[in-house]
Amino acid sequence: MTNATTNGRPLLEVEDLVVRYRVPRGLSGALLRRAQRHVHAVSGVSLSVASGEMVALVGESGCGKTSTAQAILRLVESEGGSVRFDGNEVTTLSRSGMRRLRRRMQIIYQDPYESLDPRFRVSTTVAEPLVIHGIGSRADRHDRVVHALERVGLAPAELFVDRFPHELSGGQRQRVAIAASLVLEPELLVVDEPVSMLDVSVRAGILAILDELRRRGLAVLMITHDLSTAARFADRICVMYLGRIVEEGRARDVIERPRHPYTKALLSVVPRKDPRKRVTAQVLRGETPNPIEVPSGCRFHPRCPVAIDACKTNDPELRGAHCHRAACILAEEW
Ligand SMILES: Nc1ncnc2c1ncn2[C@@H]1O[C@H](COP(=O)(O)OP(=O)(O)OP(=O)(O)O)[C@@H](O)[C@H]1O
Ligand code: SF4
Ligand SMILES: [Mg+2]
Repeated sequence: MTNATTNGRPLLEVEDLVVRYRVPRGLSGALLRRAQRHVHAVSGVSLSVASGEMVALVGESGCGKTSTAQAILRLVESEGGSVRFDGNEVTTLSRSGMRRLRRRMQIIYQDPYESLDPRFRVSTTVAEPLVIHGIGSRADRHDRVVHALERVGLAPAELFVDRFPHELSGGQRQRVAIAASLVLEPELLVVDEPVSMLDVSVRAGILAILDELRRRGLAVLMITHDLSTAARFADRICVMYLGRIVEEGRARDVIERPRHPYTKALLSVVPRKDPRKRVTAQVLRGETPNPIEVPSGCRFHPRCPVAIDACKTNDPELRGAHCHRAACILAEEW
């Protein structure tokens, strides 16, 4: 069950989002007037996230997860589709409108070593968003910083406020980055591979913080290439392949009854404790295709273990019940 906003719709609604990057032609390409080529990073992605819900966007490297996240926050411009946040169209918002909205939607990146400025103490880093948005007096900002640090488990905050990033562990840095996002009290948190650079022992702590935030009503879009993390924490999972969502549904349905051959292949390499649920690991043939030259028909067909001739020409849409859909012409037969 998802929580809708006051207008009765999910907080974030993304529809048919398209992001392309121009491939530099180089001098010879320009002189020879070669056609402009594009990286098709996101090719018509639709998803939604409600308040109090965690949605995982899962897929292998280069499939377009970060581009989707950045287009949602308008850190890159989209070429098509729409992004609505609490009913406001983000893709056409003015600069000042966007500035107001940015307070309500925050992104956390993968690398806690890069996301913190090594010159700043923790207190300065966490207070910076408040300073940028002109919020509160100095004393008020200090209180908010302390509260944000304690919310992410850096307690007592006094122990951390004066430290520089090099005086923190990787897990503590990621907590500081989360605190800096929370200090503005956003309603949507987009987290891009939040634990992939961290030691296994500290991952659980960071994921527990995100889980708690979701329980307190935040909408969380979590980007990960790790289906087991998605299975454990997300309410819903969207599986992405080469710029498209190929399967989406409640986490449990997607994990226990995957319908797209790509999801099945991803799941086949996830270790399972229960021996009855173990399946033979399925190694996909070929490399991830080049997003500059997307295959015809179903874009997964060159690697699909069950492809039929029709897959070379038929580009399937997401089909199935609203709560579990897959983009495969054979999906209904599984
Ligand atoms: N600024 C850019 N200019 C050109 N191509 C880009 C740019 N950013 C990303 N790409 C390309 O777009 C495609 C999607 O990239 P993106 O970073 O969104 O993938 P991803 O799913 O986040 O991958 P990863 O799991 O490795 O982070 C890739 O082919 C990438 O090389
Ligand atoms: S449409 Fe065809 S190629 Fe695509 S996933 Fe389904 S069976 Fe495989
Ligand atoms: Mg990425």
